[in-house]
Amino acid sequence: MLEAREIRKSFKGHSVLKGTSLSLENSSLSGLIGPSGGGKSVLLKILGSVVRPDSGEVSRNSGGEASISLMFQEGALFDSLSVFDNVAFPLVSGKVPASSLKGAVRDEVQEKVTAVLGRVGLTKAAHKMPAQLSGGMRRRVSLARALVARPRLVLLDDPTAGLDPVASSVIMNLIVELHREYLPTTLMVSHDLRRLFPVVDKIHALFNGQICFSGTLEELKQFEDPLLRRFASCRYDLDG
Ligand SMILES: Nc1ncnc2c1ncn2[C@@H]1O[C@H](COP(=O)(O)OP(=O)(O)OP(=O)(O)O)[C@@H](O)[C@H]1O
Ligand SMILES: [Mg+2]
Repeated sequence: MLEAREIRKSFKGHSVLKGTSLSLENSSLSGLIGPSGGGKSVLLKILGSVVRPDSGEVSRNSGGEASISLMFQEGALFDSLSVFDNVAFPLVSGKVPASSLKGAVRDEVQEKVTAVLGRVGLTKAAHKMPAQLSGGMRRRVSLARALVARPRLVLLDDPTAGLDPVASSVIMNLIVELHREYLPTTLMVSHDLRRLFPVVDKIHALFNGQICFSGTLEELKQFEDPLLRRFASCRYDLDG
């Protein structure tokens, strides 16, 4: 279980998170939705210990920080490293390129990276550089990198942003498949509500700096808040 309590965060006097509280069950797959600029990425970075909140606390029951991975909205690949080395990065603690590794460690890294690249359909792109990839391929590399070390907590920031419908479905299916495989606690931000809602156990909505709704899709359909309904029903038929 992960629990964030009363998180507050301001940037230059502009208050983004205003006492945000959120809890995630172990092994659940959850979605985080809300308007652009509402603080979803900031919240994910706080949950992933990349950004420190002004106040409030985040507690996790297991794993420690080594077992968290955050897939950034921007993708954030290392431009000077090959696809293989980008994905290997969490396994080699900075010893790049992975080809400089020796013996059993090298074999283990090779095996894990090859396996995850296969899963995201990038076996043939292993030796390409990020600049040679399409947006969808870059996202798949980021996803492979986020999951290669099998972290207990996976935070995915808008993994289908800017992708065409087919590529978006491929990525979303992969996330669900990989989640099922070893059940990491997973929180995914997405504006792609049609693809997000059917696959998540729970939906959390961040509006005006607070989580105004946490529950299942069925519960969301019954939820009367006009702001949230208007937001969600633009992209998802809540009455369908
Ligand atoms: N490092 C930073 N310095 C200053 N302001 C920041 C910083 N990071 C985020 N912000 C501000 O915090 C607010 C929330 O940003 P955030 O990126 O979390 O929104 P979001 O909900 O992820 O939006 P989107 O759906 O467009 O990705 C914005 O006003 C943004 O400008
Ligand atoms: Mg964002």
